[in-house]
This record gives sequence, structure tokens and C-alpha cells, in this order.
Amino acid sequence: MDAVRDSGNAKAEPHSSVEADELNLPRLHEKRRLNIDRKSSLDERSLSELSLGGNVRNVESYDSMYSPMATTGARSGWDTPASTTPRASDPHPMVVDAWDSLRRSLVFFRGLPVGTIAAADHQSEQVLNYDQVFVRDFVPSALAFLMNGEPDIVKNFLLKTVQLQSWEKRIDRFKLGEGAMPASFKVLHDPIRKTDSLAADFGESAIGRVAPIDSGFWWIILLRAYTKSTGDISLAESSECQKGMRLVLSLCLSEGFDTFPTLLCADGCSMIDRRMGIYGYPIEIQALFFMALRCAFSMLKHDAEGKEFIERIVKRVHALSYHIRTYFWLDFQQLNVIYRYKTEEYSHTAVNKFNVIPDSIPDWLFDFMPCRGGYFIGNVSPARMDFRWFSLGNFFAILSSLSTPDQSAAIMDLIEERWEELVGDMPLKISYPAIESYEWRVVTGCDPKNTRWSYHNGGSWPVLLWMLTAACIKTGRPQIARRALDLAESRLMKDGWPEYYDGKLGRFVGKQARKFQTWSIAGYLVAKMMLEDPTHVGMVSLEEDKAMKPAPKRSASWSC
Ligand code: GLC
Repeated sequence: MDAVRDSGNAKAEPHSSVEADELNLPRLHEKRRLNIDRKSSLDERSLSELSLGGNVRNVESYDSMYSPMATTGARSGWDTPASTTPRASDPHPMVVDAWDSLRRSLVFFRGLPVGTIAAADHQSEQVLNYDQVFVRDFVPSALAFLMNGEPDIVKNFLLKTVQLQSWEKRIDRFKLGEGAMPASFKVLHDPIRKTDSLAADFGESAIGRVAPIDSGFWWIILLRAYTKSTGDISLAESSECQKGMRLVLSLCLSEGFDTFPTLLCADGCSMIDRRMGIYGYPIEIQALFFMALRCAFSMLKHDAEGKEFIERIVKRVHALSYHIRTYFWLDFQQLNVIYRYKTEEYSHTAVNKFNVIPDSIPDWLFDFMPCRGGYFIGNVSPARMDFRWFSLGNFFAILSSLSTPDQSAAIMDLIEERWEELVGDMPLKISYPAIESYEWRVVTGCDPKNTRWSYHNGGSWPVLLWMLTAACIKTGRPQIARRALDLAESRLMKDGWPEYYDGKLGRFVGKQARKFQTWSIAGYLVAKMMLEDPTHVGMVSLEEDKAMKPAPKRSASWSC
């Protein structure tokens, strides 16, 4: 747990600004508007369709993908696992337990639900910051609530976090970019004055003092999921949310010295929030970046301010997809190409553009790479390819259509071919393989929490199950998700919904894992609901944009 410390000692000034901001709260009471007729064309708008004349938002052409709430009407009620009731009159006992636990993790601000705490592990002596609402951790909770017809908490969360974004953020004497979103926030109840205030962590309390680059992306992705699920475009179109998106975008689309369209990142800026050698251009952030760009593209208004960003998004997604599809992709044939790379090439004719030395290919990769399958590697930068597998980045590449359809299918093939390594006894490895010995010392700085096959270093995280499930459904392979779900169902609840598992096969409850980890619980529910009703996947999936030319097909990844 990394943004460690109890935010009870949070700074005083920000609180007052939040209390002032709360004047906006009446907005939160606004009756949920399910406006089926005003559904916007949220995602399937082609990037090439960039029309600079007026608002291209076409209310008629909202894609026909199922929007659960728009078609069935909002379901309400705080205590029914409603998603299971239409089909299963007798829901799985784990589903009932999961909903109970999820509801116990709710956090209220002035009487309104605004999020879920990271873990409600009352047995653990160290609360650390697991009693906070983490932006990334809330995403599966939010999806579960949306799927269950309870969008208000998601709306409250989105508005609350966008208000936090407007705080002034400092680390020592350095002021952070305006668009930075918090990693987490906490509601402080004052029982005497009977007031609630907020404390947020933008990285200034985190281990390593790294700002969470993923938070702003998750916020945009969730805003689109909310809009898609409810058909209510008023939230995305509100001036707060439009500004929130623009601020995130101006942080990540700013010009600098970059020669690559990928986003340069510090170690520890994402779900893997401590030093794990992911600095540079980690696939996790690139995939979320790409997804967030495409989501923002579908929600930004074509007004004077929005237009400028829309144009920048279009340029960036084209360059980014080309770069990732071409240079991050690895399959048997491409590995063979790299293995035979010449080095010290210069100029435009270079094949080995980043001067990767074949000797740097790790031994494990020659055994791991199947004849059938492929994946996006962890990182690419000058003379450095991090060949490790990272689940989140690969699943979000599929969901955002950053991968071509062939690449998506090859990623699923790889999971089937390397089931034991990547899924083992508990879905799913966060990264593969673990780093050990000397490499562990150098890369992690001797981190005792990230020892081999534990935590971020090859540990297994149940939360990843929902992303696997969504990717399986999108690629037409739900049976893979079902197999993984069966494994989770055999242990997760019995083990008390741990945060992560340890070991090569993920057989052991993680050394320092919290129990009743909310995103393990919510991730299970989301996976279960998606399998029951695959149309839910539309909330977190974008179809391929035909205008983005796939990278020239270098190899058919399914043959050696
Ligand atoms: C740990 C995880 C991080 C998560 C947080 C709260 O720090 O590494 O990804 O957001 O716990 O669960």
C-alpha cells in the first residue's frame, strides 16, 4: 500500500475550498435523467469524421449497443443484487456476499454516497490508507453500481473528484499541473461540528511522492461509462466535466522534447505504485491514455475550447496506435527478428530503430513465447525493451481497440497457451515473470513488499478478472473468462476477498494482502454480471476506428 499514511493529518487549507465548492451540491440532488431520446453518439464516431463546423454530436446516431438503464429503466434499491435477479432467481451465494461487502465499503459525504473505501479489513492492524477512496479502485465498484441500475453514486464520485482536481497541488515548493487528479481521497467527519470535509492525496503523501497518471484517465473512462450506461449526457456536457477533461488533456498532450507519441512516466505512477522498473513508457499507462483520449474525443463539445483538443486528440491517437502496434508488439516471429537484430544502425534505413541489443533478451522469454499468440511488451525506449507481460495494459489495449483485431485475438491465444503462468490457480498475474535476486535489488531498490511472485512483482490480483472478462467477451472468447471465474469462485470468498495472491501459481494469500479488498469484490461482481449480460461490456469497450490504419502485418502470430 503505497500512498501510505493516514490522511487524518491532511492539510487544512484545501478543506475550506471544498466546503465552498459544496455549494454545487444541489446538482447532485438533481433527479437522474434518463433521456433515451437524447443519447449522444458517444464512441463509435470515427476520428476521421472530425467536423470543425459546429457540434458533430449526433443525438440520433447513438450506437445501438445496449445501454442497460436506457432500455430497462433505472433499477433502484440498495440491497438487492438486482443484476442477478432477472435470470437467476437464486443468486450465487458469493454474489450475495459480494454485494453485502461492497455496500459496507460505501463512503458518504454529507449524506450522499461518493465512493467506496479500498479495503474494509477490520482485522488488519495497519489501516494505512486503505480507508480512503482510490480513484482507480473505485472503477469496478462504479461499474457494478451502473450495471445494477444505481448510477447516482457514480455521478457523485465524478463530481467530487473533478472538484478535487481544482485544488492547488504542491509537493514541497513545487506546484503540480492543474489537471492532476488525486490518487485517493478521504472523508473526514467532525462529530462535534457535525461537518464533513475532504482530504486528498495527489502523490504528495504517496510512497515515492509520485503523482498517479492513471487517475485522470480512469476519471474520463468512467465518465464515458456513466454516460453510456445511463444515456444521460448532461453530466459529460456540464462545464465542470468539460473543463475537467480539458485539464487532464492539456497535461498529457503538451509538447515537449518527446520523439515518441507515448507518454513518459515515472516509476510508480499507476496501479503499480512503487518502484518496479516501469518508468519510461509503460504499456499500462499507454493503453489507458489511448482509451481516455478516445473517450474524451466522444464527449468533448465542439465549442471553441473543445475543438482545439479534439484536433490534438486526433493527431495523437493516430501516432500512438501506430507506435504501439508496431514497436510494442511481440510474437514468435517478431522475437526472431529482434534476436537477429543488427545494432549500431544509423539513419532512416535502420531496422533496429531503438538500437536494442539482442543480448538483452532475457532467457525466460525463449521458453515463454508460444508459437501461437503474442502481446504488447511492458515498455520500449532507447536500447531497452521490457519484455515482461502486464495484464492491465494488454486488456485495455483490447478494450480500447489499440490492438488490431488480429493482435487482440493473439493476446487471447497467449493467455490460453500460457494459462498456468498467467492464470495459474488464481486469476490473474499483474505482471510476468517476477524479477529476482540481483535484478530485484537493482530494479525495486530491494523492496521487501515486492519480492519475487508477490504483490506487484508477479503477484496475482483478483481485480484483474473483470478486465480479462471484458476482453474475452469483446474478442468472442467468453469461455476463457468462465474458466477464470470458476477458479476465483473456488477460493475468493473463502479466503476473505484478498487484495492479491502470492506464488508462481498464485496459490497463497498475499503476504501483506488486505482482506475484504473492495476492488477484488467489485471486480468479481462485474465479471459475473458481464458474463450474464455481455452487452454490459459496451460501457468499457470501444470499437476499432476504421480510419486508424493497422500497422503493416509483420507476422501471423499463430504460427511458428
Ligand atoms: C495499493 C495498490 C494500488 C491500489 C491501492 C489501494 O497501493 O498498489 O494499485 O490502488 O493499494 O487499493
